[in-house]
Amino acid sequence: MLDPRVILGPADLTAAERERIFEVASRLKSQPNTAPVPSGLRVGALYFNPSLRTRASFEQAAWLVGGTCQTLNAGADTWGLELDPEAVMDGDKVENVAEAARVLGQFFHVLGVRSFRGDGSWEVERTEPVLRRFAQYSNAPIVSLEGTTHHPCQALADHLTMRERLGEDLSGQPVVLRWAWHPRMLPAAVPHSYLLESALAGCDVRVLHPEGYDLDAEILEQARTAARAGGGDVRVSHDPRDVAGARVLYVKSWGPLGQTGPNPDDLRADWQVDMDLVGRTEEAGVMHCLPVRRNVVISGDVLESPHSWVTQQAGNRMWAQAGLLSLLGTKVGVL
Ligand code: CP
Repeated sequence: MLDPRVILGPADLTAAERERIFEVASRLKSQPNTAPVPSGLRVGALYFNPSLRTRASFEQAAWLVGGTCQTLNAGADTWGLELDPEAVMDGDKVENVAEAARVLGQFFHVLGVRSFRGDGSWEVERTEPVLRRFAQYSNAPIVSLEGTTHHPCQALADHLTMRERLGEDLSGQPVVLRWAWHPRMLPAAVPHSYLLESALAGCDVRVLHPEGYDLDAEILEQARTAARAGGGDVRVSHDPRDVAGARVLYVKSWGPLGQTGPNPDDLRADWQVDMDLVGRTEEAGVMHCLPVRRNVVISGDVLESPHSWVTQQAGNRMWAQAGLLSLLGTKVGVL
């Protein structure tokens, strides 16, 4: 763990912590109508980008562990936040991250922050400058609710879903992380986190993407090392149909790192996901973090088929985050 107060990605949780999270998540999920015992855990969630699942599930997760969660939308229902502590604030930003993080750190035991796709180069953005600034100034532990490089809460839900479907021991399970065409170039936090989370579980991970859409080299190497240690491996292919044997087909679009703009139309036909592709797998479950563009990224018949795990996967956001908040609540001495 880099810093016990900052959860930026899957590697910021130890194997034992991850096991505890899944144990709590599964226990709570097995008794969904049991009212929680009030714990007094106060959770905050600050969003610089839109959200449906993370926002709703993080609030419900706090409730599941007996706490409360307050959601704030930066610049919409808060003052516009300046993220550079050295800035001369004579523009439209009213409050500096230094004061905002110090103040929020007094109100909450745990603070989640979502901030992806900043203005800098990939080399700058991959260091998660916004999330690290909150960690620098806040007394409360910071949880990434999706940063530039990782989406750790999504990864926990993905892992929980695979355990439920394939069994607790995922060592050597053949899984495919596959790029899909999308009209816009999207951030790579989810594919990075799925890659690393499944590698930490020992899966045999195949990453499929068009040339020029490489994932972060350091994360790829980190995942390869983790997978080999757990009985799996990581391999990269540019063949969109290299899915034979896969038990999981994890679908996500991303742009060349740090880039925005439209995706080239000539990739669309080869990289959409349809029943023909699913039929080439070993009865794979189809996973996607959502939101998904139906009949563009994944065909409607795949999403409506028994192959689709996406609803279960999204539902697990709540249970997995309850496990995470239980862990953090214990660390800060509230639970
Ligand atoms: N998967 C996910 O993070 O969804 P939202 O963007 O709706 O939170």
